[in-house]
Amino acid sequence: MSVLAPAAGEVVELMLEVPQGQVLEYNLPALCSALDIADPTRIAVETDGLRRAIVTIYPSNPLAEVRAVTAEDLVMDRHGRIAVGVYHNGRTVKRRLYDPATGSAQRFLLFGTTGAGKSRTLQLELAAEKRNGIVSWVCDLKNGQSVPEARDNVDWFGTTPEEAILMLRAAVNVAQERMERYSRLGRTAFIRDAPDPLHHLRIEEANRLLEKGAPYREEATYLIRELGRTGRSVGEGIGLSAQASHLEELGGSDTLRAMLKEGEVTLLRWSSSMMRQLVSDGLLPATAQLMPIPKSLRNVELRSQFAIDADDDEEDAPGTQGMAYLLSGPHPTAMMRHFRIGSIAPTPGLDPEILALYGDDAPPTLEDASHDAAGEAYAARHDPVKMAMLCQAVYDEAQEEEDKRPAGKAGKSYSPAKPPRAAAPRIIDRVRAALANASAPMSAEDVLAAVLADGGKEVRPGSVRNALLELVNGDTDVVRADRGLYTIDR
Ligand SMILES: Nc1ncnc2c1ncn2[C@@H]1O[C@H](COP(=O)(O)OP(=O)(O)OP(=O)(O)O)[C@@H](O)[C@H]1O
Ligand SMILES: [Mg+2]
Repeated sequence: MSVLAPAAGEVVELMLEVPQGQVLEYNLPALCSALDIADPTRIAVETDGLRRAIVTIYPSNPLAEVRAVTAEDLVMDRHGRIAVGVYHNGRTVKRRLYDPATGSAQRFLLFGTTGAGKSRTLQLELAAEKRNGIVSWVCDLKNGQSVPEARDNVDWFGTTPEEAILMLRAAVNVAQERMERYSRLGRTAFIRDAPDPLHHLRIEEANRLLEKGAPYREEATYLIRELGRTGRSVGEGIGLSAQASHLEELGGSDTLRAMLKEGEVTLLRWSSSMMRQLVSDGLLPATAQLMPIPKSLRNVELRSQFAIDADDDEEDAPGTQGMAYLLSGPHPTAMMRHFRIGSIAPTPGLDPEILALYGDDAPPTLEDASHDAAGEAYAARHDPVKMAMLCQAVYDEAQEEEDKRPAGKAGKSYSPAKPPRAAAPRIIDRVRAALANASAPMSAEDVLAAVLADGGKEVRPGSVRNALLELVNGDTDVVRADRGLYTIDR
């Protein structure tokens, strides 16, 4: 077919159909083979689920380069959507943050394997939340290392599973309180900012909270389901980002199936078992296929095993971070890529580009009327010492529950084989102790060395740095002495 030998740089579009009475099925590798295309990401197939398909063949992967996100992208349109990236055909991808037509808050799920771009995508959404007056509560279960720029740009930033539980409990209470308040007003639906703001709770690395053997799995699952159920009509959304190959890893498939069906579901680079699960859960029609997202855009080229070629460096191939499928969008099988968010290369501290995306304003906070319902934990969100005490109480409660369990049933919600999390001194306390023991201000490196030498568990430099930030920004006696130096204000 001459059409398949396009001039350089040309895009070819094939409209295909099978005879009436048949259902179009295709096999992606076979299609690539038939077209003699080695790089499968050059082909896009979209079907109507029945007889017809459009096959688009690009001269090279059309998503290799994507522009940076702008503040304008993040402003909600009249349908409550923001621009998050582009589809392979160049059209803008929109994700819904809110549904003004029904007044419904949204549920968000962001899946992807490690390095696929979950945390950056979350930052885009968090920046959008801030810019649209949405109150964000974020629990970053990677010790605050996943989305560090969010810390001062959201209303409540937590870093431990205990704090996630406190946040979830508070959010469920707020939903209850709003419901009662709205019902007294005779209101049947949520109206944004009249008077209450939208409120989103996000759990980053939710798998750490929900996977089998995680200490708070049962309660977290219950609370997430509860918030998903009651929050929608009172302006409270919930979002999870997770690295998971199975829904089972996330509190059991029942919890999430409903959320997945109605939520904004984004699938970044995933494992094939995850996709099988999505199909078996009915989230993707059995005939739909998603072109797997490769780790990098390197062509597989067969060469003699003995060819000497300096050009064989895998490291040079562009990555595919941020490429995804927006399953809840109008084109679930069309590959898209998120806009560039922040710098690709790691920055030594907080990423200035990401900070700029959030803007300088103070983040929106929960309405006064709900502060009582949000309770002690919300009031203590900027008080690390008080928060540590509340977290310890959550931990102790879980321990007590565990001790009450009849023998033989142990391990259902908490695995005693795991070292108790809160019993070991927390990094933040070790960091403060290191500063207290020193006679002069210390750099982050000095603090790290002192903490590594204190006989406690191994720590990573990032965790020490985060602890320092938390201490300096929190209401404690730790202060910055000079550029890059920390000390105790005695
Ligand atoms: N939209 C994006 N724009 C720019 N860079 C990105 C984007 N998405 C991902 N990256 C790059 O890829 C790296 C990994 O992305 P990210 O940390 O978001 O992945 P992740 O899915 O959260 O991984 P992990 O499971 O390790 O937490 C980032 O450090 C960044 O360099
Ligand atoms: Mg991450």
